[in-house]
Amino acid sequence: MLFAKGDPIEAGVSEFLNDGTDVDFDRRSGDEHDGMWFFGISDDGRYDPERSDRGILCINHENLEDNTLHENGVTAAADNGGSRPLTEVDREMNGHGVSCIEVRRNEGRWEVVRDSQYNRRVTIFTEVEMKGPAAGSELLRTKSSPQGVKRWGTMNNCAHGYTPWGTYLAAEENWYSYFVRGDDSGNRTEAENALVNRYAIGAAWSNREWHTASATDLYVRFDATATTGTALEDYRNEPNLHGYVTEIDPFRPAQKPRVRTAFGRFAHEGAWAAPAEAGKPLVFYMGDDARREYVYKYVSNANWDPADANGGLAAGDKYLDDGKLYVAIFSDDGTGEWKELGYGVNGLDENNPEFPFRNQGDVMIATRIAADIVGATKMDRPEWAAVHPMNREVYITLTNGNQSNRPADDADAANPRAVNSNGHILRWKEAGSNNAATTFEWDIFLFGSGADRGSDYNISGLTADNEFSSPDGIFIDHRGLVWIQTDDGGLRDTTNNQMLVAIPGTVGDGSGRTIMTTDNNSSTSTVTSFVGQNAESLQLKRFFVGPKGCEITGIYLTPDARTLFVNVQHPGEGGSADQFNTDRSNWPAPSRDATQVGEAGTRPRSATVVITREDGGEIAV
Ligand code: FEO
Ligand code: CA
Ligand code: CA
Ligand code: CA
Repeated sequence: MLFAKGDPIEAGVSEFLNDGTDVDFDRRSGDEHDGMWFFGISDDGRYDPERSDRGILCINHENLEDNTLHENGVTAAADNGGSRPLTEVDREMNGHGVSCIEVRRNEGRWEVVRDSQYNRRVTIFTEVEMKGPAAGSELLRTKSSPQGVKRWGTMNNCAHGYTPWGTYLAAEENWYSYFVRGDDSGNRTEAENALVNRYAIGAAWSNREWHTASATDLYVRFDATATTGTALEDYRNEPNLHGYVTEIDPFRPAQKPRVRTAFGRFAHEGAWAAPAEAGKPLVFYMGDDARREYVYKYVSNANWDPADANGGLAAGDKYLDDGKLYVAIFSDDGTGEWKELGYGVNGLDENNPEFPFRNQGDVMIATRIAADIVGATKMDRPEWAAVHPMNREVYITLTNGNQSNRPADDADAANPRAVNSNGHILRWKEAGSNNAATTFEWDIFLFGSGADRGSDYNISGLTADNEFSSPDGIFIDHRGLVWIQTDDGGLRDTTNNQMLVAIPGTVGDGSGRTIMTTDNNSSTSTVTSFVGQNAESLQLKRFFVGPKGCEITGIYLTPDARTLFVNVQHPGEGGSADQFNTDRSNWPAPSRDATQVGEAGTRPRSATVVITREDGGEIAV
């Protein structure tokens, strides 16, 4: 175990007590480790993607474990005179965000360099700059940010991304659930109401009541209720500042992170780059992780110049603020199309009856509405994407769906199950293997399932040795092996969450397949889809199983293929608060041996673990 919740990131900070009393999370690991990437450091302190023994590990802290973060659980505002205790709220806001830590391999063992100049926490208190088409937009101006060019921090950072110039991308996923909103529709324009309704701002989410903790902007901004005053007198536009991808330069920790609004605004799972090619645009793939949401890609207007390989956030300004955003249509005949989401393109302008887009900034703020208008395909919760480093095919996990949003007669070839409890993995080949192309061919790589299900559901032929459910993390390493990580609630009676590995084929290596699907109302439908090779042909193998209650997420394989970094998120989740999850899992043991589970009563901790072979050799070959 390398880096666990609460571990100090600075020499002189005390060891984590893990009893709910630690307060200085801005100098410690946050909670719920999620997406992650490793940036090799050369001897002269520059980004070196070939380095396997020294680097900066950037780790997202998606969310909090309420049972274990505070001494006695969460104190509701109603139980504390109407305001959440500030100490608890500060711990929660600092428990979110990103850790950047220097790590080194020292005689075969990895360790965190606690006094490194690179160590840094980005939290919900960190000031960040809004960049790209939406920066300064009228819809981003609020009492806390009157020019609409800055924002406080980043939150609910699920998965990640990285750029060819050695910067980290932290996506914001379920950011909308942190805001409250009163019945204010009479104080909003028609367009503003369309926007808050499409993004479910102020729906009945169980928010954290941060707005009650203090009267200053930093906290009150989580109340997005529009008053009868102007947008500069309240926080009605505060949710418009969130839902993007934020770029962090691990090598220049004094620089403020920059929000790349050109990637659009939705429940951003992450942003994954196609391999950069000199003289060609840079391409990033992204999923909007909510039921019936979409798959996107960003294509830079500038062509890649390898001279920018250490360019930091200035390179980000060049490639990530100016480009085209597209959304995917997966047709039933196995082909697909990217529709551009640009101002003045595909009907996205002032005269659109759904939303009056005034400029490209409006399209980047109301991205989901724009995608609805162009007829994008509604997917079963798009999570991570990965681009095959050799053939450039793109894989995306569709973690699951349920019948309430997809009745049998609404199943389609790309989402062929009405009740998709266990998810599937879709992939596509862009025309000419050019990631910037606007057409492609797709098929379904794998379906999650219990091994005991019938062949109309266990379509990939999973067995007891490789059954899995709810694929979330996916990564294709430089040797072409595909790694799959699960975040599942549907197969937990059979296996905890886990990581699997396979040798992928190519789009079209399987066949057309007629699938009969049944929804929860017993209505049936027959869908013809395109399915790749079965699990046996792919050599799909279970690589490890995590502790009870956890999700497995975050992965990096060093260039020498001898070290795997992986995150174990929320072990013990679902256990009872009074026993600190004794009835689920108390992983890890205080000894930090990741193969051991702690004593009853120990509070479990999310952590980054290191996997090496006992003989020190290449992993998974
Ligand atoms: Fe945080 Fe979509 O997983
Ligand atoms: Ca995820
Ligand atoms: Ca998930
Ligand atoms: Ca999670």
